[in-house]
Amino acid sequence: MKPIAVIPGDGIGVDVTRESMRVLKRVNEKFGSGLEFVDFDWGADKYLKEGVTLPGGALEMLQKDFSAILFGAIGDPRVPDNRHAADILLGMRFGLDLYANVRPVRLMHEKLCPLKNVRVDDVNFTVLRENTEGAYVNAGGVFKKGTADEIATQEEIHTRKGVERIIVYAFEHARANARTKVCMSDKSNVMRYAGDLWQRCFKEVSPRYPDVKTNHLYVDALTLLMVLKPASFEVIVTNNMFGDIVTDLAAALQGGLGMAASGNISPNGVSLFEPVHGSSPPIAGKNIANPMGSILTAAMMLDHLGLTEPARAIETAVAACVAADQTTVDIGGKLGTKEVADAILEQLG
Ligand code: NAD
Ligand code: IPM
Ligand code: MN
Repeated sequence: MKPIAVIPGDGIGVDVTRESMRVLKRVNEKFGSGLEFVDFDWGADKYLKEGVTLPGGALEMLQKDFSAILFGAIGDPRVPDNRHAADILLGMRFGLDLYANVRPVRLMHEKLCPLKNVRVDDVNFTVLRENTEGAYVNAGGVFKKGTADEIATQEEIHTRKGVERIIVYAFEHARANARTKVCMSDKSNVMRYAGDLWQRCFKEVSPRYPDVKTNHLYVDALTLLMVLKPASFEVIVTNNMFGDIVTDLAAALQGGLGMAASGNISPNGVSLFEPVHGSSPPIAGKNIANPMGSILTAAMMLDHLGLTEPARAIETAVAACVAADQTTVDIGGKLGTKEVADAILEQLG
């Protein structure tokens, strides 16, 4: 049996996870995949009621008892400092050492791309985002808060081990997926210390993969070329913050945040799968959110578990619904969240 921890979280995380679970349960039956699901109610409601964010022992339990984690989204206006999100989502990314944030960027249909004259094959790359350090370590402080002399610092941490392992992961990912190019992106012209570490690691690791071509782009130029020449990319590797930003841009190339899937991977332990989008409070609970990002995320999780047949079946079903405009309004359709999942289930048979 393969136990899956299901954490819908907040806002539309709940709406889309409900639908991806219907799809997962269907393929689980149809393909005899042996998945078992256990729900966890971690999120803003629990935090506001009980003061609990990530319960004690949660990380150990996830690591020991589960084959994978399916996550929705987190963030709620009632928690303005985002404390619970930091504890729960970043808590799992850091605490489970999910160092490779894998964000595939694939266009399902030309009509979803906001760019002119772009074919489906022109948008097909993967961003590997470092997921355990950088600007996300919460290092810094504030002095003389609330006065005219206030000073705030926010530091980034880049470690030799952390940078090297995500770069190695990018090359391994390229090889495993018949990709021939890796682009490393940083801002080493300004961020001299961290940039230098990234540059040296990239130059040291590259020769171990003579079959893979390499190039470097400053992150500002990367965003330009992602729009002007998306077809020039196969694998992009970058730090935590830049990876966050460029993958929202990349989501736009695919049709928007509602279409983008991701995996937070620990090669030696349990991994977590989540759509790239957030909890979108304004449309939560209204049967509006696009569930396809979450459903494609579920397919990514199945692939990770070696369940390639149901993963391909889900992708084919989603693609058929996109082609037939059986979609939510964000990508041009007229259906609600639930009705899109109904259409995908019908495709699955
Ligand atoms: P968001 O991704 O929630 O929304 C950005 C825009 O995209 C909004 O216009 C929203 O309506 C739209 N959108 C996103 N997903 C959609 C979907 N599935 N279908 C249709 N439209 C969709 O980002 P935000 O508004 O910047 O953040 C809202 C909250 O989510 C914040 O608390 C933020 O911290 C959190 N957040 C969480 C995650 C996560 O859990 N991984 C990711 C991003 C943001
Ligand atoms: C993402 C989100 C998160 C991030 C937030 C919610 C902490 O934007 O997964 O892309 O910044 O990593
Ligand atoms: Mn983000």
